[in-house]
Amino acid sequence: MELQPVKGMRDFYPEQMFQRSWLFEKFRQTAQRFDFFEYDACVLEHEELYIRKSGEEITDQLYCFEDKGGRRLALRPELTPSLARMIIARRDDAVFPLRWFSIAQCFRYEKMQKGRKREHYQWNMDVVGEPGISAELELLAALADFFASVGLTDKDVTLKFSNRKIMAEFLGLAGVPEEKLPGVSVIVDKIEKIGPGKTSLMLKDSGIEESVASKIIAFTQAADMSEVERSIGYRPAAADEIQDLLEGARAYGMESFLRFSPSLVRGLAYYTGTVFEAFELAREGRAICGGGRYDRLVETFGGAPTPMVGFGFGDVVISMLLEEKGLLPVFGKHVRVLVAAFSPAESSAAISAARALRASGLRTEVDCSYKKLGKIFARAGRQGFSHIVIAAPEELASGRLTVKDLRIGVEEKIPAASVSDFILEG
Ligand code: HAM
Repeated sequence: MELQPVKGMRDFYPEQMFQRSWLFEKFRQTAQRFDFFEYDACVLEHEELYIRKSGEEITDQLYCFEDKGGRRLALRPELTPSLARMIIARRDDAVFPLRWFSIAQCFRYEKMQKGRKREHYQWNMDVVGEPGISAELELLAALADFFASVGLTDKDVTLKFSNRKIMAEFLGLAGVPEEKLPGVSVIVDKIEKIGPGKTSLMLKDSGIEESVASKIIAFTQAADMSEVERSIGYRPAAADEIQDLLEGARAYGMESFLRFSPSLVRGLAYYTGTVFEAFELAREGRAICGGGRYDRLVETFGGAPTPMVGFGFGDVVISMLLEEKGLLPVFGKHVRVLVAAFSPAESSAAISAARALRASGLRTEVDCSYKKLGKIFARAGRQGFSHIVIAAPEELASGRLTVKDLRIGVEEKIPAASVSDFILEG
C-alpha cells in the first residue's frame, strides 16, 4: 500500500497547520479590514466551467473525471469561474459592487517545481460590478496592506501591472478582431519560456500577421509607457487608465510597491483590462500572486454583463518567502498548561483547576494518569508545555496548587482561585 501522500499533495502536521492557520488569519484580517465578505464554493465543479479554447495551461492541468452518473467533473483549479457562476445565480438580487473573498483549496496537475504543487490554497479577493479603476486600487491596496501585516516591504516585493486594453487597441487598429486577444495573451505569456522566435510563430499560427506579431512582441519588451508609445507608434487610450492607477496609488501611499510593466500579460484568457502580479525582488523573483480585470467572464457563461476584478494569492510561495526571511511565527511558543492530579483523590480538584484555566482562555490539558511526578514533568518538558499545575494532597489541604513555570523553572504554591491570574500575569 502506498502510504505517501499523492504526488504534489501536502499533509499538514500540527506545526505546519499552525503556520497555515496563522497565514490564513493574515489573509482574512486584511480582507475584513477592506470590508470584504467571505464565501466559498465546492471543490468539485462541472468540467465545462474550465474549458476555454485559448490554449491556457490551466485547462490542460485539470484533475477531471466522470462520476457514476456520467457527469464530467473537475476539482477546481481556481475559484474565479465558481465565483462567476455564483454571481449569475444571485444577479437579480445583488446590490453592486460586491466585495467577496475566499481561501480555497485548488488543484492543478502541474509540472512539479519549487513553489508549484498540485494542490494549493488560494486567497481570492474580487470586486463584482465596479467598472472603474477604484476597484483595482482597492485590491492593490489590500495586497500592500497584507504585505505590511506580515513584515514585507517594497524592498522585498513589487507589484507589476499592465493593461490588456493596450494590446486589444492595436490589434484592433491592425484589423485583428478583438476575440483574438485572449489567445494572443496566452501565447505572449509564454515568451520568457519559449523565446520571441517561437512566440512569433505561434502568433502567426493563430492567424496574426507577422508585422502585427512583431509589434506585439516589441510592446511586451518595452520597459515603460514611452517605450510602448515608441514601439507601437502612438499613445494608446489605455495609457490614461495606467496614469490614473498610478495617481490613485499615491493617495493610498503604495506607489513604491507598483511598477507598470508592459511585459506582464498573464496566462489566463478571461482578463480584459488591468492585469497585475506580485513578485519577490530578491532571489529568482518568484511570482507571489496574480489577478486582473475580467469584465466578460459572466457573459461567456450566459449571464448579464458584469464587470469583475480580483486576484488569487497562493499559500506556497509566500510561505517559502516568509520562512526564508524569518517572518513566520514559531510553533510551540504558546502558553500551555498541564494540570496533573497526584492520585485519584485529587482528580476532581485537578479538573476544577483545568476548567477555571480554560474559562480564562488558557490552553489546558488534564493528566489523570497518576504517573510519578518526575515522569509527568518530563513529558511536560518534551511536549513544550509552559506551565505545570499539580493537585497534590498536602497543598490542597490549605486550598493551594503547585504551579511551575517551566520556561524559567520557578515553582510556587498558589491559592486555587488565583492560578489563572498567576499564569496570565506571569
Ligand atoms: P493564477 O495566476 O493562475 O490566477 O493563480 C494565482 C496564484 O495562485 C498564483 O500567483 C500562485 O500564487 C497560486 N498558484 C497557482 N497555481 C499554483 C500551484 N500549482 N502551486 C502553488 N501555487 C499556485 C488565478 O487562479 C485567477 N483565478 C486569480 C484571479 C482571481 N483573478 C481574478 N480573480
